[in-house]
Amino acid sequence: MSKVLVATEKPFAKAAVEGIKKIFSEAGFETILLEKYTDPNDLIKAVSDVDALIIRSDKATREVIQAGKNLKIIVRAGAGYDNIDLAAAKEKGICAMNTPGQNSNAVAELALGMMVFMARGQFKGISGSELKGKKLGIHAYGAVGKNVSRIAKGFGMACYAFDPFLKKEDIEKDGVTCLNSAEDLYSSCEYVSLHIPANEKTKKSIGLSLMSMMPKGATLVNTARKEVMDEESLKKIFAERPDFKYISDIAPDCHADLLQYAERYYSTPKKQGAETAEANINAGLAAAYQIVNFIKNGVRTYQVNK
Ligand code: 3PG
Repeated sequence: MSKVLVATEKPFAKAAVEGIKKIFSEAGFETILLEKYTDPNDLIKAVSDVDALIIRSDKATREVIQAGKNLKIIVRAGAGYDNIDLAAAKEKGICAMNTPGQNSNAVAELALGMMVFMARGQFKGISGSELKGKKLGIHAYGAVGKNVSRIAKGFGMACYAFDPFLKKEDIEKDGVTCLNSAEDLYSSCEYVSLHIPANEKTKKSIGLSLMSMMPKGATLVNTARKEVMDEESLKKIFAERPDFKYISDIAPDCHADLLQYAERYYSTPKKQGAETAEANINAGLAAAYQIVNFIKNGVRTYQVNK
C-alpha cells in the first residue's frame, strides 16, 4: 500500500484534509498527517517510509529528501516551489511537482485587499484615496497576475504588465497593456503588485533603482516572496522617500527597521495569501490527484524538476 505524508506546518482547512484523505483512501493509499510541527526533524522522521509527500511552504531540503528512503514524488500544493531542493530530488529520481493556478485567486484577492488597506490609511479613519483611475503594474503575468488584473479592472484601475516570458498578445487579450521592461512598469504605475517567483535570477532583483522610479505616493505590494526584495534598498527608499509605501504578505528580515515607518509600511504577521478554504481545497485536492495519477499511471504533468 502506498503511503502519503501530508506535512503542513501551516495546516490546510479541515475540508481540504478530508478531501485529500478520501482521494487516497479510494486509491487504496494510506494518508499520514503531520501538522503544525515546529521542528524540521519531525518532517525528517515522518518522511522516512513514505512513497509520496504533499507540502505547502514546508521546506523539502536535501536532508528531508535523503531521509525519504521510499520517496518517489513531492507535490508542493501551491505555485512557488523554491522550498524544494530540486537538484537533490532529481539526483534521487524523485519527481517534484506544483499545482499551478489552484490558489491564485486567493492571493490575488489579498493583493487587491492590501491596496485598499494602504489607500485607506490602514483603516485608521483618516482620509485616503481610491483605486479607481489609478495605474496598476503587474510584475509577472502568471495565474496570480491574471486574477489581479481581472479584479483590478472591477475597481476601475488601468492595468499594465511586464512579463518577459509571455507574448504581448497573451497579455493584451485581457485588456492589460503589455510593457517591455520592469523600468517601464515601475516608472509609470502608482501601484505595483509583485508576482515573480524566487529563483537565482529574481532574488534581490527589486532594488533601489526600480523603487526610486515609482511615482510620488506609490505603493509596492508583495504577495510573492520576501527574497525578491533587496532589503538594503528597501530601508534606503523608506529613509529617502517619505511618500513611498510597501505592504507585504511575507515580512522582510528588516521588518523591525521598517516599523518606524508604520504609516507607510505593513506586513501580515504570518503569510496568508493562500489561506482560504477554497484555495486549500483546490490546491490540496489537486496535489492528491496528481500523486494518485503519478503512482498509478506514471503521469508527470506539472513536474518542475525535469
Ligand atoms: C504559493 O506559492 O502557492 C503561495 O505562496 C502559498 O503558499 P502557502 O501554501 O505556504 O500558503
